[in-house]
Amino acid sequence: MKTILVTGGAGFIGSNFINRHLERYDGYHIINLDKLTYAANPEYLKDVECHPCYSFIQGDICDAELVGSIMEQYRPDAVVNFAAESHVDRSIGDPGIFAVTNIIGVMTLMDAARRSWRDAGYEGKIFLQVSTDEVYGSITNDQEPFTEESPLLPNSPYSASKASADLMVRAYIKTYGFPAIITRCCNNYGPCQNPEKFIPTCILSAMENKPIPIYGDGLNIREWIYVQDHCDAIAKAMFEGVTGEIYNIGSSEEFSNIDLAKHILAIMNKPLDLVQMVNDRPGHDFRYALDSRKAMERLGFKCSRRFEERIMDTVKWYLSAYSGHSA
Ligand SMILES: NC(=O)c1ccc[n+]([C@@H]2O[C@H](COP(=O)([O-])OP(=O)(O)OC[C@H]3O[C@@H](n4cnc5c(N)ncnc54)[C@H](O)[C@@H]3O)[C@@H](O)[C@H]2O)c1
Repeated sequence: MKTILVTGGAGFIGSNFINRHLERYDGYHIINLDKLTYAANPEYLKDVECHPCYSFIQGDICDAELVGSIMEQYRPDAVVNFAAESHVDRSIGDPGIFAVTNIIGVMTLMDAARRSWRDAGYEGKIFLQVSTDEVYGSITNDQEPFTEESPLLPNSPYSASKASADLMVRAYIKTYGFPAIITRCCNNYGPCQNPEKFIPTCILSAMENKPIPIYGDGLNIREWIYVQDHCDAIAKAMFEGVTGEIYNIGSSEEFSNIDLAKHILAIMNKPLDLVQMVNDRPGHDFRYALDSRKAMERLGFKCSRRFEERIMDTVKWYLSAYSGHSA
């Protein structure tokens, strides 16, 4: 039996990862360490709550004593770090907590893992840092997608905190031979995402015939991946990835915010004029796009189905999960 310490597993991607991992793979015990911030929803883990291979610990990744004791008690083979403050808008209003969780938290986890693993020479151990395309900054329509060698040019406090963590992971790899891998993924969508994020906002606003707020001229472009494809890529990176490497994980499916909102309105048979332009976000990146060939070639990563199908599933999920609630 192998043990994986998953952090932030009660959030959007982490809960999808845990549910999917326990469903697909035998022989793993998952310990979920989550602080349960506003972004967490333990309901998303109700199907695995009583699973014999699942344990939950409420706590902060910045709590060195707690993290150290978990590493000593459970001796995990892998740490997969999803725990983060993840909302760009919040990072503009209150950057401090982003620096604490997203940078100090990652160092605290790595220090505990290093102490626990180093005597055995890190043999068979993996620390997987879940990062984002936003660390590369913004490109224009004419520029090529980011590769893993693109410079880190973050523009928001959120992306700067994630880029800082990536650099710290790199430093631990170079300095201590720490067995880490970084994955950098594009925007995720799918079940269990916090309603503050773009796609849930579109669906839940449309459901109530409320305006969908779109920043600026709505032409900003994002690449979108279904959350379970991202989770599968993380599992592949954990199983097949080479320590010290970075893997971009994307779908190559890019849409402007306004086109995406209108697509969702069309699926839901709602009037397109529910789209409402609002003042732009400060420092709003124009376009993110990833070159994911390395993950495809070296990890065998591939998205399972196209956006058109997955977004239908996603709309259905929100309609069912939120029927009877107000958005
Ligand atoms: N959502 C995306 O589109 C996307 C894209 C690329 C990368 N990522 C990265 O993936 C990871 C997960 O993103 P998400 O969208 O699931 O985030 P989320 O905000 O939905 O969930 C974050 C989880 O981390 C927990 N958490 C926060 N601070 C903590 C702390 N100090 N200690 C322990 N737990 C803490 C929260 O309680 C929550 O359960 C993040 O690192 C994010 O940067 C997200």
